[in-house]
Amino acid sequence: MSQKPASATTYDPLVLRADVPSIQSGIAHFDGPGGTQTPRTVANAIAAALCGPLSNRGVNSAAQVRANEIVLNARQAIADLLDGDPRGVIFGRSMTQITFDLARTLSSQWSAGDEIIVSRLDHDANIRPWITAADRAGARVVWLDFDPVTAQVSVDAVATALSPRTKLLAITGASNLVGTRPDIAAITALARTAGVLTYIDAVHLAAHARISYTALGADFITCSPYKFLGPHMGALIAAPSLLESLSPEKLAPSTMDVPERFELGTLPYELLAGVTAAVDVLAELVPDQKLDTPRTERLDVSLAALGAYEDQLSSHLAAGLAAMPRVHSYSNAAHKTPTHLFSVAGFTGAAVSAFLQERGVEAPSGSFYALECSRHLGLGDAGAIRAGLAPYSTLDDVDRLLAALAELPAT
Ligand SMILES: Cc1ncc(COP(=O)(O)O)c(C=O)c1O
Repeated sequence: MSQKPASATTYDPLVLRADVPSIQSGIAHFDGPGGTQTPRTVANAIAAALCGPLSNRGVNSAAQVRANEIVLNARQAIADLLDGDPRGVIFGRSMTQITFDLARTLSSQWSAGDEIIVSRLDHDANIRPWITAADRAGARVVWLDFDPVTAQVSVDAVATALSPRTKLLAITGASNLVGTRPDIAAITALARTAGVLTYIDAVHLAAHARISYTALGADFITCSPYKFLGPHMGALIAAPSLLESLSPEKLAPSTMDVPERFELGTLPYELLAGVTAAVDVLAELVPDQKLDTPRTERLDVSLAALGAYEDQLSSHLAAGLAAMPRVHSYSNAAHKTPTHLFSVAGFTGAAVSAFLQERGVEAPSGSFYALECSRHLGLGDAGAIRAGLAPYSTLDDVDRLLAALAELPAT
């Protein structure tokens, strides 16, 4: 086992690892950007919700009150995680579903000749819903490109893309394929000045960074708890006043209250209990904090420590990949998550992934639905191998990945 990086002492992944049953198999998981492994604490919270009295939300029976509490707790948890207002938190089956719904709602206010901006860096879930909605409204789609060599998005390109007809700008907080983190605060500032709504996909970013809805200046931010140790569902945060101004399609008897107006049908209460538990796990990644410290402050401390730790591991991984002559890396942005996309000369991505898997290293290959990004990188629809770090990743995992790559035969 290698030496620990010097500043890794503030965050100890072994505490979390002890709580993640699937890791006990010994597999080194680099597939976190697809979905993290689940702590037992989160699974227990889901089971406890189902095993207690539980019915539809209400104020009369214990079962109704409990369902209500679970929803309100989960809204508060996401509001704490994204530093926003719990009355602006919408839950849905997935980020994709929420985005299609929002796109349908927002585009009812667009007309022919209006414009929307989408980015080639993004996962298709923050592209296709907007293109579909724009087509329906007769609006024009303007593409924001990134530099395929540096993997960076220029803020100047955003300024150029904006026009007096722009209604919405959709961009990712971090690329799930190459890890690039665009300068979202600068981009939303430009959009705000131009009177353009911003829709930020933080599905990949939320697993790695402290996010502030307020500080980012965005109108909508989405995330998916299953990317940060939670269950499989999606969430969105916006200002309650903005949500009040929108009229989503809904059932006649369902409430007009915000955010419930946007939530179709019955919420998965048990998964919401898991969302709260996942945010609590994140807040406790640095465990020796006082429990009466507000969760927002514990998240500040824990996610800062996690970020520093992941940066160290990420640099170690990047250096190891750079030292391999046959490896080509596509994750070249200066500001990025610890997610690395690479190919190996002489091998398909699928062959490398299979080779790694035989050695207990899980690093899948593909475009991971970031289809436009993969094509713009020259990788077509096949993509490449993605190795993403998660809060349970260790230096030993990274060394196992590098050692396995070094074993690839000559071609
Ligand atoms: C960056 C990014 N955005 C959006 C999504 C879609 O999220 P969901 O599965 O919740 O629809 C993903 C899923 O991989 C993602 O990585």
